[in-house]
Amino acid sequence: MARERVLRGEEAAQKQAEAQVEESIKSLRPKFLAEYIGQTSVVDSLRVAVTAARNRGEPLDHVLFHGPPGLGKTTLAHILAREMNSNIVATSGPALEKPKDLLGIVSNLEEGDVLFIDEIHRLSRMTEEYLYPAMEDFQVDLVIDKGAFAQKKLKLSLKRFTLVGATTRAGSLSAPMRDRFGIFCHLDYYSVEELTLVVKRSAGILGVPITEEGAQQIGRRSRGTPRIANRLLRRVRDYAEVEGDGTITQEIAAAALDREGIDEIGLDRLDRALLATTIDFYRGGPVGIEALSATLNEEADTLVDMVEPYLLKIGMLVRTPSGRKATEAAFRHLGRTPQPAAPTLFPTM
Ligand code: ADE
Repeated sequence: MARERVLRGEEAAQKQAEAQVEESIKSLRPKFLAEYIGQTSVVDSLRVAVTAARNRGEPLDHVLFHGPPGLGKTTLAHILAREMNSNIVATSGPALEKPKDLLGIVSNLEEGDVLFIDEIHRLSRMTEEYLYPAMEDFQVDLVIDKGAFAQKKLKLSLKRFTLVGATTRAGSLSAPMRDRFGIFCHLDYYSVEELTLVVKRSAGILGVPITEEGAQQIGRRSRGTPRIANRLLRRVRDYAEVEGDGTITQEIAAAALDREGIDEIGLDRLDRALLATTIDFYRGGPVGIEALSATLNEEADTLVDMVEPYLLKIGMLVRTPSGRKATEAAFRHLGRTPQPAAPTLFPTM
């Protein structure tokens, strides 16, 4: 009993520490489009859309952001609200279980406000259908459940708002939902150069001394993801303060990240475990996601949303109709001998 309480206490302290880190990472987020590094074509088209809407005195069209986690979807939603001088209300697909959850929010929006729905692909069917007329005509149905007008359906007019949706799985959105967005933005992984700039900007805000090579080292190991770059910067800063003189150099960054289990190309323990399991347990694949999830003891959704996309992007993994396969590059990266191709019935001669 006492032991359980201690563990709960530790868990709570860890959760609190993680929340503090997330909070301070948020403070590093750019606030305006002009400060935003990377995603240049997305930023350019948003700048045009914002300027045009502002000049016409109209709310911005509904915007859909899609792409892997940590690339800036939430940050851009907040930037859009700020650029439009509007308020933002942020929620998520799973939080809007019933239409009435949505009604409570949309009925309180002011003209031009941004309603940000993260993980919009996880809206329930009922809530999604309730959202359609709100997006299209700024109206929702209101069913009176008590009194003289019980069971009467009324239309409630809403202020013209901008819906900003974010999803890691554009393919999971229904066609009617997709069709109601005016602006689509796909976010892709950042280059090492862009991440190096992000690290230098964040180090400047935090007041951490860093060399160009130190920033590059962190940029190179950030899995194409600014959120990871900012998290690693904090780990390296701690290391530099304790093991060095406080300045982040290439050597300090490399040593700190090695110790964190982040390898030279940015793969973490889970990335390597997924590749090693595919190679050693399933002979390089093909292997289905459920089998990988069971062997690794990780949620299939975590593997599909957070782990696989980067491994596919850098060519360590390929998807085939029968499952995931590790590539030759993955065998080499993990120090395994690539397997010769299986003999075929019809050799090309
Ligand atoms: N911090 C996190 N993402 C960023 C970005 N895209 N540009 C500038 N700073 C960032």
